[in-house]
Amino acid sequence: MSESGSMYWWKEDSEPAPGFGDLMQRSKVPLTLADVRLPDAPLIGVNEAFCQVTQYAPELCLGRNCRFLQPPGGAGPVRQRMRDFIANDRIEDGKFLVPNVRADGSPFLNLVYMTKLQYRNEIAYIFGSQFEIRRHGEEALQIYETALKQDIRQLGSIAGEMGIVMLGTYEQLASSHSIIAKLRMSGLKGD
Ligand SMILES: Cc1cc2nc3c(=O)[nH]c(=O)nc-3n(C[C@H](O)[C@H](O)[C@H](O)COP(=O)(O)O)c2cc1C
Repeated sequence: MSESGSMYWWKEDSEPAPGFGDLMQRSKVPLTLADVRLPDAPLIGVNEAFCQVTQYAPELCLGRNCRFLQPPGGAGPVRQRMRDFIANDRIEDGKFLVPNVRADGSPFLNLVYMTKLQYRNEIAYIFGSQFEIRRHGEEALQIYETALKQDIRQLGSIAGEMGIVMLGTYEQLASSHSIIAKLRMSGLKGD
């Protein structure tokens, strides 16, 4: 594992583009990066905010597929939707509400945003961000989305300098309020 500030990389040369890590490190929102060219799409980078939300030490996350956050009994149908999203190169970004479990065993509802990164004409990476949904969190969500949008824009331009294209249109980002409104009506359980 290699560490720079509060950004953690799986291997020293995992960082896809110089400067990418600096920005992930500075970000206040939980961020993850997976390399989908490697078997089982392991996490190659996580930031401090991700480790704080999940309470997992970085060395327990890196090199593993992020499904380790899902409960032993399964995450429900959303898992298949995430798998379909990853398998379909034509879908650029997506947002998923997933029941997850922290390292201490406490459950939380995770709003996972993913967007794909293309390098040399193939989808090489998936960039992810996680937001813990709480009962009274409208304002927190607003702050999170603004920060995430800004960080994604900047990451996109840094990646672009290295020939990595950040796909996704941010439209998905705007849909959180309706996702949460629906969830409230169904009793904050996710699926
Ligand atoms: C960058 C990235 C971040 C992810 N973050 C989460 C997460 O926070 N929680 C979660 O349950 N799944 C997360 N996933 C999804 C799982 O890793 C996995 O893709 C999903 O469970 C569907 O695949 P499977 O059926 O092979 O498990 C993430 C995936 C990627 C690529």
